[in-house]
Amino acid sequence: MSKMAAQEVMLPPQLAGKLKGSFAYNTIKDKLPVILTRVINNLDQHKNEFFKEHGEKGIEAEKKVIDSLSKLLDELQTDKPLIALNDNLPDTTLWNQCLEHHRNLSDGPPSWFQSPWLYTECYMYRRIHEALTQNPPISEYDVFKKEKDHGFFESEQAIIVLSTYIQELLKNIEDLDEKFLKEEFLKLPQVSLWGNKCDLSLSAGADSSQKSDPLQSVEELKSFILVDHMEKLWSVLTNKKNLNAQSTRLDIVLDNAGFELTADLVLADFLLSSQLATEIHFHGKSIPWYVSDTTKHDMNWTIKQMQSANHKWMSRCGVCWEGYMKKGAWVYHDHLFWTLPHEYSRMAQVAPDLYTELQKSNLIIFKGDLNYRKLTGDRKWEFTVPFHQALNNFHPAPLCSLRTLKCDIQVGLKPGQGEQLTKTEPEWMIIGKYGIVQFDAAS
Ligand code: F6P
Ligand code: MG
Repeated sequence: MSKMAAQEVMLPPQLAGKLKGSFAYNTIKDKLPVILTRVINNLDQHKNEFFKEHGEKGIEAEKKVIDSLSKLLDELQTDKPLIALNDNLPDTTLWNQCLEHHRNLSDGPPSWFQSPWLYTECYMYRRIHEALTQNPPISEYDVFKKEKDHGFFESEQAIIVLSTYIQELLKNIEDLDEKFLKEEFLKLPQVSLWGNKCDLSLSAGADSSQKSDPLQSVEELKSFILVDHMEKLWSVLTNKKNLNAQSTRLDIVLDNAGFELTADLVLADFLLSSQLATEIHFHGKSIPWYVSDTTKHDMNWTIKQMQSANHKWMSRCGVCWEGYMKKGAWVYHDHLFWTLPHEYSRMAQVAPDLYTELQKSNLIIFKGDLNYRKLTGDRKWEFTVPFHQALNNFHPAPLCSLRTLKCDIQVGLKPGQGEQLTKTEPEWMIIGKYGIVQFDAAS
């Protein structure tokens, strides 16, 4: 048995679709096929645009992609063995090594329902990417773009509220004393947290935009925060500030585009303008991922949309954000590790350059549910296991998860808290109603 396989035996097992009725099983059986079917329909509806842009070649490519995806859908629905990737991208070998690893671990061949859910679900998105990548001239087409853009436009009122709030606040930011600064600070991570309700993967692509006033919701939703380490975040950021550190670096590992991304950018603007942080590094996906996850293109598009909005404060936000990017106070990164199926405890080994980059941070914020699954290895931990333990040696820097609960994993709860919730609300872990602000100091 390899060293890695031996280590895995010591940990709780990863979630998988083997158990009928489990959330993993239901996701693979019901949700992933819906997402794939929507992708196929979207390509079909886009046929005329492909023709306009690329002529007959565009139509031929579109047909081939649809064929590949229909085959993929059949493989998934009939629990066929997973197959090696056939493209030639920088991560292809890593994916195929992963397949070998699972082959060695299991009795039968790796398959959709038998293998770890984290692996198979990520594999589906990577296969969608493979289908496109192999079919120029439409290889660059983002099959989720339409839904992501729709999510942004549908949330416009909430974005206006948030932009107005931040621009008013920034007018006096230098005069705010520490008490007021702290009050404001405590609000914005919560807006960013609840923004995570707006993901298009849980809703399988159906509209899930922000309709209510996001600032008013902060008060209403407070009691749904199961782990609240906001004070610890404040301490990390203010300790650095008081020590007159030359720079305070914050990293945000982004999740969904649309309202959630806008809320993250407003939080980043506040932290920079208040000098709680002096540089902010964003980490996004390098390929379309889990329907609504942010790519570099989504980030740039969002900033441009804000700039050109027909609303003074939205537009001001967009102009400022572009300025931060230009002068390097905000930096956008992508790395192929974020779209591998690995738990983060493997980052130091698989992507040492990324791990070293994150070690430069004073605080890393991980947004969303998928990041939480990867932080905790997607394992069936006991509710009371400390977050630090579930991170399984992933400690590049102090870190925090801002996540609404959308899968059946939760650690760091008080004794009895999880059991009580299960009794009163059996679906508490999977409906996105509850949230956490969960911190680990790294040392
Ligand atoms: O479908 C699996 C899943 O990880 C869910 O647990 C969650 O609904 C979604 O995908 C991703 O959520 P998020 O955008 O918050 O990472
Ligand atoms: Mg997401």
